[in-house]
Amino acid sequence: MSETTNEIKEQIKKRRTFAIISHPDAGKTTLTEKFLLYGGAINLAGSVKGKATARHAVSDWMEIEKERGISVTSSVLQFGYGGYCINILDTPGHQDFSEDTYRTLMAADSAVMVIDASKGVEAQTRKLFKVCTMRNIPIFTFINKMDREALDTFELLDDIENELGIATCPVNWPIGSGKEFKGVYDRETKAVELFSDTQKGTTQGEVRKIPLASQEIAEWVTDSQLTQLKEEIELQDGAGAQFDQELVSKGELSPVFFGSALTNFGVETFLRHFLSMTTSPLPRSSDQGSIDPMEEPDFSAFVFKIQANMNKAHRDRIAFMRICSGEFEAGMDVYHIQGGKKVRLSQPQQMMASERKMIDKAYGGDIIGVFDPGIFSIGDTLTTSSKRYVYEGIPTFAPEHFARVRQVDTMKRKQFIKGINQIAQEGAIQIFQEFNTGMEEIIVGVVGVLQFDVLKYRLENEYNVEIRLDNLPYEYIRWIENTEIDLDKLTGTSDMKKVKDLKGRPLLLFVNEWSIRMTMDRNKGLSLTEFAR
Ligand code: G4P
Repeated sequence: MSETTNEIKEQIKKRRTFAIISHPDAGKTTLTEKFLLYGGAINLAGSVKGKATARHAVSDWMEIEKERGISVTSSVLQFGYGGYCINILDTPGHQDFSEDTYRTLMAADSAVMVIDASKGVEAQTRKLFKVCTMRNIPIFTFINKMDREALDTFELLDDIENELGIATCPVNWPIGSGKEFKGVYDRETKAVELFSDTQKGTTQGEVRKIPLASQEIAEWVTDSQLTQLKEEIELQDGAGAQFDQELVSKGELSPVFFGSALTNFGVETFLRHFLSMTTSPLPRSSDQGSIDPMEEPDFSAFVFKIQANMNKAHRDRIAFMRICSGEFEAGMDVYHIQGGKKVRLSQPQQMMASERKMIDKAYGGDIIGVFDPGIFSIGDTLTTSSKRYVYEGIPTFAPEHFARVRQVDTMKRKQFIKGINQIAQEGAIQIFQEFNTGMEEIIVGVVGVLQFDVLKYRLENEYNVEIRLDNLPYEYIRWIENTEIDLDKLTGTSDMKKVKDLKGRPLLLFVNEWSIRMTMDRNKGLSLTEFAR
């Protein structure tokens, strides 16, 4: 191995690339801010999102974002801590939830799930979690807001196990909550980390640790809390899952941590454990078998997100890619497999805290955005290797909202078809057609309703086409896996609709889950899926 390769290996080994997921308001942004605080990327927590202002700073590229004060696309933050180079992939929530949120998870090596201690697992977490389990990536849980009244600890753990179907292993255990929150007990060191509200979490602050066995503990924790803690720990030690790194790595056991991001309590403990339990970039599947970054010296990457019109004057697009192996250098020539030709990757950028900056170098595990003259698609592979392997594609995720779309001015049919097809190819929306009809009726499907507005806005501004959207009652979509099935003979419920996607794959739209079950019952052997590969 050449010297350069060893250097590249060292760089890749330092990488930790994870997605942070949560239901809106659980504290994802606050926790991210505190991570950056430890990494020294920001001096004072509060600059990731000073609510209305800084959120704009993260990606103020599109008018619609400015108007609404929300971020439409997910961002990537990089910072260093303890010798690691950490990439955090933020996943947008609320109404800005979209397919990009799911796709982001395809670029991560692990996920951190933030849960509000007073609420337990919430709807959005459940959806994102499904994608993580599909990929078998390690999942770490941070139970936040312990400085507020929390649910019972066992109840919270049961909730995760029942709702998400993953075993849990608490690394620490909370003592009280809300006004009575005293800190956490570290199950490994058998010491209590005392809670203190360090100036509302704007400084790093030392954490005081007292062994549970010491006399001093009584000065801080009440007798009844101490008795309760001992009972709970005994119960957990006896009945709960033991820590098992192998199960964690396979995504079958989630290490759980308790804390309060706002007051900066439990954050550094979490970060330290997390970094030692998670992995550096792992091999990825390709059509030529698995590509291991420790063995593949050449650069390779796949596109997981395309962001259009970051600069309206130039109508440019940025393709975000996850580097899987090797070293990236600005302006380098790589082979674009799907396009069948060499391309130069120019204007590479990375997100650093809330700014976008140009970069010269990046390594396996990193996420970069490059200028896209309109040639890349989601899932494309780029490499300098002569082996020309293709990374496994990114699945198409099931939209949950559907509308019939028509252009207002019927004379503009051509622009309309061109525009809607281009936007669909970028992956911003999905379009469907009824079976056995021409392009007359187009149905658009989205994961988050904001995508409808984005579609309308972009068609008007970029293609000069005004459209009308009529909402349809469908909420569930399933691709038909066994393509030998005769669609004409398939019998479903009366409100079911047969359509095909851009690639001509047949699928079914349903109004409710009951219809799906009925259709399955009526058509023996029918195989349906929520993720189309
Ligand atoms: P999100 O990104 O997951 O949507 O959540 P975010 O961090 O924005 O946090 C949502 C709200 O919860 C914020 O309050 C935040 O200050 C608060 N919060 C986060 N972590 C904790 C915690 O550990 N304890 C307590 N008590 N609160 C926490 P907000 O009033 O909506 O916003 P702000 O005006 O405080 O910024």
